[in-house]
Amino acid sequence: MTEPPAYDLTLYPDPVLRKRSEDVAVDDALSALVAGMFARMYASGGVGLAAPQIGLKKRVLVLNPEGDPAKPEGEMVLINPTLVERSGPATVFEEGCLSFPGIYAEVERPERCVVRALDRQGQPVELSLEGYVSRIVQHEYDHLEGVLLVDRMSAADRARHRGALEALVERYKRGLAKAARR
Ligand code: CO
Repeated sequence: MTEPPAYDLTLYPDPVLRKRSEDVAVDDALSALVAGMFARMYASGGVGLAAPQIGLKKRVLVLNPEGDPAKPEGEMVLINPTLVERSGPATVFEEGCLSFPGIYAEVERPERCVVRALDRQGQPVELSLEGYVSRIVQHEYDHLEGVLLVDRMSAADRARHRGALEALVERYKRGLAKAARR
C-alpha cells in the first residue's frame, strides 16, 4: 500500500479557514486526499478534520468518533456535503478544534442533523445523525462555510481564551514574516 500524502495542520487565523469551500470531483486524487486527511487527524488526536484545516478550500470531511485508527468502523467520509436539517433540543458540549490547539469551549448545537453527501466511493448518501457524531459533523461542516470555534463560543469564553487566541495570531504573523524572508 502506498503511503498517504503528508499534510500539516492549518491553524487559526490563516485566512483559508474563513473561505467557503468548493465542491470536488471523486477521483483517485480525492482518495489520496482522504487517506492523508485521516492520517493527519489520527496523528493529531482528532475525531474530525475538514479540508480547509490542511489548507485546501475543498468540501471534504473525514471523521471517526472513536478517534482510533484501530477502529476504522467508526470512519465516515463526507464529500460535497449539505446539511439539510438541524433539529432537536439544543445541547451544550465542550468542543476542541485542531486549528485551535489547546483551546476548548462549550458550544450549543441542535442535537440532530441530516446530511446529504457523497461517500468515499462517490455514492450519494443521506444520514440522520444524533449525539456525538451529529456534533462532529456540525462542527466540521462549519469549517466548509468558514465558521470557526471562536465564532461559536460564548463571549465569556472568548474573553477567557483571549491570551491563547492572541498567541495564535502572533504565531501566524511570525510564520508570514519568516516566509517573506525566504
Ligand atoms: Co475544527
